[in-house]
Amino acid sequence: DPQKTIYDMIGGGDTLRKLVDAFYKRVGEHPDLAPIFPDDLTETADKQLLFLTQFFGGPTLYSDQYGHPMLRARHMPFEITPTRAKAWLACMAEAMDEIGLEGPVRNYMYERFIQTGNHMVNTADS
Ligand code: HEM
Repeated sequence: DPQKTIYDMIGGGDTLRKLVDAFYKRVGEHPDLAPIFPDDLTETADKQLLFLTQFFGGPTLYSDQYGHPMLRARHMPFEITPTRAKAWLACMAEAMDEIGLEGPVRNYMYERFIQTGNHMVNTADS
């Protein structure tokens, strides 16, 4: 079915929940990332689940609750350096591996993470 979304192809919200949990477990332990995130990542992970649902073609859960994502603006309070973008993407790649996402759909998703992650960079490495 050519109309099938990425969200459908990977198994919907159940798969994204697993991805988000595997991802923030790593973020919380990463020396470059943990310092700019809250200690309790529960709410962050819940928001990310809503966001990724709509980012990959599922229902518009994030916007329904929080309005337009304006992701770059929402990241402005944080120093997002090239090093941190790399670390974020590495955590995501490992999370995708952990939950067994593979093949073209995984590569497509990862490309979109790279594009969006690079767009979030707002500070030079010191
Ligand atoms: C929120 C860091 C890339 C989606 C946040 C927060 C931080 C952060 C520190 C605030 C967490 C909180 O207070 O709960 C980073 C870093 C990135 C990055 C270092 C590296 C490039 C991305 C990418 C996406 C994304 C690529 C989407 C694909 C989000 C979303 C939120 C968020 C949806 C919640 C926004 C809100 O409603 O407050 N990020 N982020 N981030 N990030 Fe990122």
